[in-house]
Amino acid sequence: MSRQIKIFDTTLRDGEQSPGCSMNSKEKIAVALQLEKLGVDVIEAGFPASSPGDLESVKSISALVKNSVVAGLCRSLEKDIDAGWRALQTAVAPRIHIFLATSPIHMKYKLKMTPDQVIETAVSAVKYAKKYCADIEFSAEDASRSDPDFVCKVFGAVIAAGATIVNAPDTVGYAMPDEFGRFVAYINEHTPGMEKAALSVHAHNDLGLAVANSLTAIQAGAVQIECTINGIGERAGNASLEEIVMALRVRKSYWNADTRIDAAQLYNTSRIVTQATGVKVQPHKAVVGENAFAHEAGIHQHGILENRATYEIMTPESVGLTQNVMALGKHSGKHALNDRLRRLGVTVDGETLERIFSEFKLLADKKKTLNDRDIEALARNASAAAPETWKLLQWSVSSGSSLGATCTIQLQHKSGEFHKTAALGDGPIDAAFNVIDQIINRDVTLEAFEIGAITGGEDALGETYVRITLDGVRRWNGHGISVDIVESAIKAYLAAINSMEWDLGK
Ligand code: KIV
Ligand code: ZN
Repeated sequence: MSRQIKIFDTTLRDGEQSPGCSMNSKEKIAVALQLEKLGVDVIEAGFPASSPGDLESVKSISALVKNSVVAGLCRSLEKDIDAGWRALQTAVAPRIHIFLATSPIHMKYKLKMTPDQVIETAVSAVKYAKKYCADIEFSAEDASRSDPDFVCKVFGAVIAAGATIVNAPDTVGYAMPDEFGRFVAYINEHTPGMEKAALSVHAHNDLGLAVANSLTAIQAGAVQIECTINGIGERAGNASLEEIVMALRVRKSYWNADTRIDAAQLYNTSRIVTQATGVKVQPHKAVVGENAFAHEAGIHQHGILENRATYEIMTPESVGLTQNVMALGKHSGKHALNDRLRRLGVTVDGETLERIFSEFKLLADKKKTLNDRDIEALARNASAAAPETWKLLQWSVSSGSSLGATCTIQLQHKSGEFHKTAALGDGPIDAAFNVIDQIINRDVTLEAFEIGAITGGEDALGETYVRITLDGVRRWNGHGISVDIVESAIKAYLAAINSMEWDLGK
């Protein structure tokens, strides 16, 4: 019997707090529901005390998720734990996740606490949280740079106070795999009362070792792994969920351990997180990168045609990357579209299906056939979009080598008012964004802009990601697709603006 390892996903907390990965609450809910569908055991939905917005989105996720534990991160402070509980109390299975650093450098310079004060603070935080909730996780921040005996002492004390999970993070991604394995085994063996709690690890990727460290920790006795989709997270990121899950699954007899993750949902989950954050994965990213199953060299292609196992250790289908069965076109009906969505692992409600279908018809009029990647992009677009404060009605652009560009756009505000303006720019997209800025009359700064094609070929759909900010603190992402790249950029910019208006209007 292989061991069952619990997957604790922190995409919405450690992932979301990393630069450029912020999501609005609608995007967070879409990601949380997909994580539930993926089968993660625990969804860390946010850090409720960090902002009212975070508290609200943890609250919404708590109310919606039924089949995963929902966790909220709290410092070892009563006010954080109160906020955490306000956000989590409606969850079917809530977990309060408390942390406090245990390394000499963090205790001295950050906390300005003695080791005894750290133990005392951790214990009283756990006892305080226990009044609200049975399931309490305690993390010893920077555990891998802490004295192992001190970590055992802290863990023993918090377990005695009621912690049900103790987590040993490699907070700064400093540990080496065999060293981390020995550290975890030591903690497992020497923590008083360890048999009453579950041991977890949380690895960062500063030296590219987060997945390796997580796997050696499993061998050493960890039963919960904290990780993120696409490996997003602070600095160089966290351990990548999809890589850990597939390493365990592909080499099951080697690890003698598995998870309850539905691997066929991995690809789709990765794309949903990409869309929500606007941060693309590199093409050669293991498991979910664009090239993860591409074979370019002639000798490889020959091998693959004879027998896929020559160069593939897992099938694209096993991670949800389906091959095109039949492209859909303008004569395809809603039923065929819904069927294809289901085959791609996307379930949508009737209203979202209507939105996807009307976009599908518009696109199919301009592009002969839509393949699976195009259809996934349409679905992602429709599911995460904020309500339209501003709706694109018409646009036109003229540009040339020496003239710069002029763009005219007509938008409709949700109040019903029409706005039509023209502006100049260095190029067609610059001109289009200038028009929109004038119409919406807000001082928006464009922070990131990425344009590309969803699939290859002459009639590929253009896809744009943008990230905007108003004050350098709050950020919003937008995604747009169209057969015309300028239109995909306009749609992406408006999607980000609609997301901002929706947030500001709440
Ligand atoms: O990296 C870390 O130590 C953390 C803890 C708060 C779990 O994210
Ligand atoms: Zn972390």
